[in-house]
Amino acid sequence: MKEKLEEIRKNALEDLKKGVDKAEIENLRVKYLGKKGELTQILRGMGSLSAEERPAIGKIANEIRQNLENLINEAGNKIKDAEKEKKLKSEVIDISMPGKKRNIGHRHPTDLTLKAIEDIFMDMGFVIEEGPEVEYDKYNFEMLNIPKNHPARGEQDTFYINDNIVLRTQTSPVQVRTMLNQKPPIKMISPGKVYRSDAADATHSPIFYQVEGLVVDKGITFSDLKGTLEMYTKKMYGENVKTKFRPHHFPFTEPSAEMDVTCFACGGKGCKVCKGEGWIELLGCGMVHPDVLRNAGIDPEVYSGFAFGFGLDRMVMLKYGIDDIRQLYESDMRFLKQF
Ligand code: DAH
Repeated sequence: MKEKLEEIRKNALEDLKKGVDKAEIENLRVKYLGKKGELTQILRGMGSLSAEERPAIGKIANEIRQNLENLINEAGNKIKDAEKEKKLKSEVIDISMPGKKRNIGHRHPTDLTLKAIEDIFMDMGFVIEEGPEVEYDKYNFEMLNIPKNHPARGEQDTFYINDNIVLRTQTSPVQVRTMLNQKPPIKMISPGKVYRSDAADATHSPIFYQVEGLVVDKGITFSDLKGTLEMYTKKMYGENVKTKFRPHHFPFTEPSAEMDVTCFACGGKGCKVCKGEGWIELLGCGMVHPDVLRNAGIDPEVYSGFAFGFGLDRMVMLKYGIDDIRQLYESDMRFLKQF
């Protein structure tokens, strides 16, 4: 048996010397040390040896086992090291090659302007509400006092999804949603995208942004509306900017007005920005129509409110001197990099 063991050891050493690869190493492990391996067989057969022989043979067998295990592991590690070395060599980075330039983005001018507007209103205690861009006709029009045959529908060329669902043409439906979901006092602004089937040109885009505002509480009057919007205008465009309210008509407010501000480019003298007028039309506003309050389950005998809405894109264009609205939507890096 001793000879048999020595022979196994000799064969194994020879096998290992033959310059083995990764798969062969595993084969050798199975051949000599595996459950059915040659050495294992011998260790299993130890029972048949005499009591004197057993310890000596056992000792040799274990030594050989240990020895083979070490050698096989070593050979395996050598192969792994060699593979790693090869991989590292093949993946050498040429540090003399110019790197790929990554452009780090930054906020879009529309977003920058909106952030300034949101900060001003939040400082005055307004919260920000959101509504869906795919909206029920009911919220976009009907509950805002614009029934199916109303002429105001003609002014807002609407993308219809079906008879009852539209792409919202204004952010005003968020007024309805907020009043349906919350009890007064309500003090919110709601910025977001709106859609109209207009052909795109320098001043029109089928997608644009509006910012809606709504305040509802007991005892809200037109002077609250004026005070709030004047405060906003001063914070946004400077202390010296003056405001002026002109009567107007919106179906969902009564009375309604449009607010103009003195041109922030020329201070009111008249220039290219205000087209010589000295004034810039900024927003629509008014006292929430009693029917609109009623539609949303708010008693107009108890509560009153004001609302306003403006196009954000025009604010952005005026702020940065951009003369074509399409640039805000084209994602042209040469344009966007300037902000
Ligand atoms: N939704 C109006 C529009 O798209 C803008 C507007 C005017 C909103 C007056 C209001 C408002 O909340 O009171 O033309």
